[in-house]
Amino acid sequence: MTRLEDQIRSIREEALTGISHARELSDLEEVRVRYLGKKGIVTQLLKEIGKLPPESRPTLGRYANELKAELVQLIKEKREGLLKAKETREFLDISMPGRVPLRGNYHPITLVLREICEIFVRMGYEVVEGPKVELEYYNFEALNIPKDHPARDMQATFFVSDRVVLRTHTSPMQVRTMEAQRPPVAIIAPGKVFRRDSDVSHTPMFHQVEGLLVDKGVSFGDLKGTLLMFAREMFGKDAKLRFRPSFFPFTEPSAEVDIECVLCRGKGCRTCKNTGWLEILGSGMVHPALYRFVDYDPEEVSGFAFGMGVERIAMLKYGIDDIQLFYKNDLRFLGQFFL
Ligand code: PHE
Repeated sequence: MTRLEDQIRSIREEALTGISHARELSDLEEVRVRYLGKKGIVTQLLKEIGKLPPESRPTLGRYANELKAELVQLIKEKREGLLKAKETREFLDISMPGRVPLRGNYHPITLVLREICEIFVRMGYEVVEGPKVELEYYNFEALNIPKDHPARDMQATFFVSDRVVLRTHTSPMQVRTMEAQRPPVAIIAPGKVFRRDSDVSHTPMFHQVEGLLVDKGVSFGDLKGTLLMFAREMFGKDAKLRFRPSFFPFTEPSAEVDIECVLCRGKGCRTCKNTGWLEILGSGMVHPALYRFVDYDPEEVSGFAFGMGVERIAMLKYGIDDIQLFYKNDLRFLGQFFL
């Protein structure tokens, strides 16, 4: 073997090591310049071979040219590999801190609705649910709401057809329950209700919880005691209620119930419009006219009913002053309520 042949062999080995050790494109470029650049080792080698006596030129020339071709090819492949690795690295930066996944939680209205139901379940009430698309009969007729009553006004009610409406309250469940069960009955009926209303204190869809207790000898005193117990469970043992005479076609006598403002403790503030009180529900003794629709004997039994606005109670409980916040789906708002 000639000295030059030997030299070609060791140049090749060094070059291959250089290529395989290149970690960055710049390392590889250094290797390329070192061997294949204008003054590169292989370039010089070819020049030297050109000066050799003619008999040794062809063989060594072939070796050197093969080496050059091999290096060109290997550098090209390595270059492609490094480019790809760079792309992947930019795409997947394993040193980046992880992203905390969004964790879902219950809607504040769901939480409050459940809390209300739990309080009454502890008192022995059964939870029932009914249709949101309701017959006019249950929403109005059987609740003793005559045809010309303002509650039937097209302004407030969403009509589905002539005799079908979106329920405007959960009171239809009073009638449906009494139709299906004989007394004694003790139910609460939570759910969505619909009215054509929308401003800071109204949304076209909101939630109510209806309550109904019918048995022998149920009095207005039972209604007061039950609602006071509820208020204390919901807002704390200092909660105070005020019963104001009112009117509903399906209760007689009727009362609207206010709670002492939980924000200012009755002193008067913006939320309670300086009255110290906030209205939370409608209630009364079941009107005897209803018993006729469901074949109960008004001489035998009596009962009370109430219907409360869930959004209203949630607003008081959490100190929220705009009902629309519940339905804007803003996670900054919704993410604040946990079990
Ligand atoms: N349904 C009435 C309303 O939506 C509330 C109510 C329920 C009043 C039960 C009396 C008895 O305003």
